[in-house]
Amino acid sequence: MKRNVEELTFNHSGIEVPAGTSHSLFPTPVKLFELSEAGMNAELAAFFASHPRFSSRDQAETSDVTNLMEYAVEVPALNRLEGLFLACLENYCREIGWRGEFDLAMQMFPNVAPKGHYVPSHNHVSHISAVYYVHAQPSDRPLLVSDESVRDYWRPDEGALILHDPRFNASLQGGWQYHAKVFPKPGLMIFFPSFLWHEVTPHQAQEPRLSVAANFTLAYRNLPSYERHSVFSC
Ligand SMILES: [Fe+2]
Repeated sequence: MKRNVEELTFNHSGIEVPAGTSHSLFPTPVKLFELSEAGMNAELAAFFASHPRFSSRDQAETSDVTNLMEYAVEVPALNRLEGLFLACLENYCREIGWRGEFDLAMQMFPNVAPKGHYVPSHNHVSHISAVYYVHAQPSDRPLLVSDESVRDYWRPDEGALILHDPRFNASLQGGWQYHAKVFPKPGLMIFFPSFLWHEVTPHQAQEPRLSVAANFTLAYRNLPSYERHSVFSC
């Protein structure tokens, strides 16, 4: 007959083991840059406010189907923003150990988020992603919070960018689940690997939150001789 679990005790008393060594392997590199670009932000905000594209009903659904650099001639601030993205990309790549010459594919697309808008959980089809905040409602929270409990995960914070634990099904492992929240402010540029699942909670400010996202796909130029490259159609 099966005994009650209360009657059973696993016993390891008297067994000594070494303290062991800990290694924080495979961290996820997320980098924040705090930029002071009031003039650029004002020009970009005026562009978002005046161009009819950003007031159309489907602007959120179609935000990533074009490249903002299409408007660079009429909005010079976009050239400045592209340069800032690239300078921070160089910094980020060096930090994660990517050195050398690359073919780079880059897309910049807008996020105009009116009151109540949210972005469901997703990741990006590229290698490295970034977001620059042109305008966001003020928050008294730190820029990045990464030491919350799982219980805090469920609190409906306003206008937070939530970064999810990228380990496969981490939530099913109980104590292995972590998350981080970013409370953005104007001038913040954040870089992260594109595989990192993230979402944005709604904000209640009257004016839209304005940000620009960027995707980077990089291919080393010094290809190994065993790789054959050609055009393929199907
Ligand atoms: Fe995203």
